[in-house]
Amino acid sequence: MKLSVVLSALTLALATSFAIPAAQAADPLVIKFSHVVAPDTPKGRAADYFKKLAEERGKGRVKVEVYPNSQLYKDREEMEALQIGAVQMLAPSLAKFGPLGVRSFELFDLPYIFPNKESLYRVMDGDIGKKLFNLLDAKGITGLAFWDNGFKQMSANKPLRSLDDFKGLKMRIQSSKVLEAQMKALGAFPQVMAFSEVYSALQQGVVDGTENPMSNLYTQKMNEVQKHLTISDHGYLGYAVIVNKKFWDDLPADLRDTLDKAMRDATVFERKIAQEENDEALAKVKAAGTTQVYVLPYKDRVVWQQALLPVHKEFEEKIGRDLIQAAYRAAAEVEQERAAQATAPAKKDKPGPVKADKVRKQ
Ligand code: SIN
Repeated sequence: MKLSVVLSALTLALATSFAIPAAQAADPLVIKFSHVVAPDTPKGRAADYFKKLAEERGKGRVKVEVYPNSQLYKDREEMEALQIGAVQMLAPSLAKFGPLGVRSFELFDLPYIFPNKESLYRVMDGDIGKKLFNLLDAKGITGLAFWDNGFKQMSANKPLRSLDDFKGLKMRIQSSKVLEAQMKALGAFPQVMAFSEVYSALQQGVVDGTENPMSNLYTQKMNEVQKHLTISDHGYLGYAVIVNKKFWDDLPADLRDTLDKAMRDATVFERKIAQEENDEALAKVKAAGTTQVYVLPYKDRVVWQQALLPVHKEFEEKIGRDLIQAAYRAAAEVEQERAAQATAPAKKDKPGPVKADKVRKQ
């Protein structure tokens, strides 16, 4: 456990004990929700929305303090802070669970594994999502929800079009072994770095480029220090909302239920706005004129995909073959369903029975 995390935890504990006079029964329960991105991102907005719902529905029994932009802790520190109870809630990206020892979360980092959000949600919201959350129990963590961000795009100060363009580039990645292998497969040098340090590292040339969904890139102003962006959708970035297990288990059952429902509604909201936020961010990057945006053509996407596919095989053992196969199955099912829908006769050709409650009263 890092000394800085322990010291910050002690400072927080002291501040809290001075701020609150001797135990008052009516004092609200405080949930410190720490995260590393800007408030105007899918995660940032959803954290604020959860706060609103939880406080309204908690009727004075709960107060949610949201700390955005790594104000309290950087990526790795926040996990440790949650485990020792210095904060109660986080939403780390799925790529940041590997260092905890739960490597199966790296399923979501595999390049090009989810061709669309639908197949991704099937995996997250199904048995695999449950299995992943169960793995957190042993770490003193409870998983509450999966939040979305979006597909990642590549950026650098040179165009990234062919595989050769990556050769020798230092690319910042999150702390995931899969992402490390992905960058190596492209011929680049991966550099793990906390999210809060990426802008200055790009500015100072410590790294040459990076990958992120548009909302993260734009809200951290990375476009100001990256002349080129390739819309490659080569991988996914999403989140697990997690709480300290002991804190959660010790809550009065009715309050836990209220918070659980607030989280469910915040999750619906989050998934609804994620794509909009990323689309808006892309439009803003284009309007800023700082960065040339290149959409990777389908034929080159196939070439990237072929170069990156060996990464799936390489991580079969660490992630779990069953999980990877389930992700392939979900993608195939969605594709089949879409194909069936596309060839099905239009609804108006096959009228169904009119339900009594749909018949307009005269
Ligand atoms: C986040 O979205 O939470 C940060 C992602 C990153 O570290 O790149």
